[in-house]
Amino acid sequence: MTFHIITLFPETIKPYLDESVVGIAQKRGVVKVKFYSPRDYSRDKHRTARPERSRRVDDRSYGGGPGMVIQLGPVVKAVQAIKSKIRNQKLKIILFTPAGKQFDNKYAAALAKDYKHLILIAGRYEGVDARLKKIFKPEEISIGPYVLTGGELAAAVLVDAISRQLPGVLGKAESLEEKRLGVGVPVYTRPEIFVYKGKKYRVPKVLVSGNHAEIEKWRRDHRKSL
Ligand code: 6GU
Repeated sequence: MTFHIITLFPETIKPYLDESVVGIAQKRGVVKVKFYSPRDYSRDKHRTARPERSRRVDDRSYGGGPGMVIQLGPVVKAVQAIKSKIRNQKLKIILFTPAGKQFDNKYAAALAKDYKHLILIAGRYEGVDARLKKIFKPEEISIGPYVLTGGELAAAVLVDAISRQLPGVLGKAESLEEKRLGVGVPVYTRPEIFVYKGKKYRVPKVLVSGNHAEIEKWRRDHRKSL
């Protein structure tokens, strides 16, 4: 799976995605994460008269109102550049917005199964010019009922949740265990007794009993669902 992330601020999420499970998946070649800056597709790129205003990608909102809007041109060109390199492979375009359809694990699994390339567009400021939706018909996705300052964290959330669904990213045992039991099963490791402020915190007896049927039952009884 290749994730193509269009963002003005790649450094807000690149370090996260280069570490741990997604980082290892990248090293193994199961996952690729590529970043594209709208600035690199801005027509103002070579304007030198006012360098501080060059490569601008945002402008004021038609009709007035606070905040800036990301211009269509640089984002459309970035998407076109990505699409032009992808031939006959399953591709989906996702636009992050707090007003989008809420992302969940079921959708993560479906995307992992059905696509080879995901173009993730992370807006900032007040958002991207709304005509982007007419041009590319992206899936509009939110990661939860709160408003973030940009789509970058949402993009990182998608990359993480989708990557761990891809074959070869989690260990076989790990992914089977999750399929079998679900999530939220409490886990314990040594020491068997932990003392805090004079009180003893013990590992549930059944887990040290060696009785596998009982352990399985205890885990089923203590799992949570999403
Ligand atoms: Cl995808 N973007 C922003 N800006 N805020 C959000 C979100 C996305 N999902 C939840 N809140």
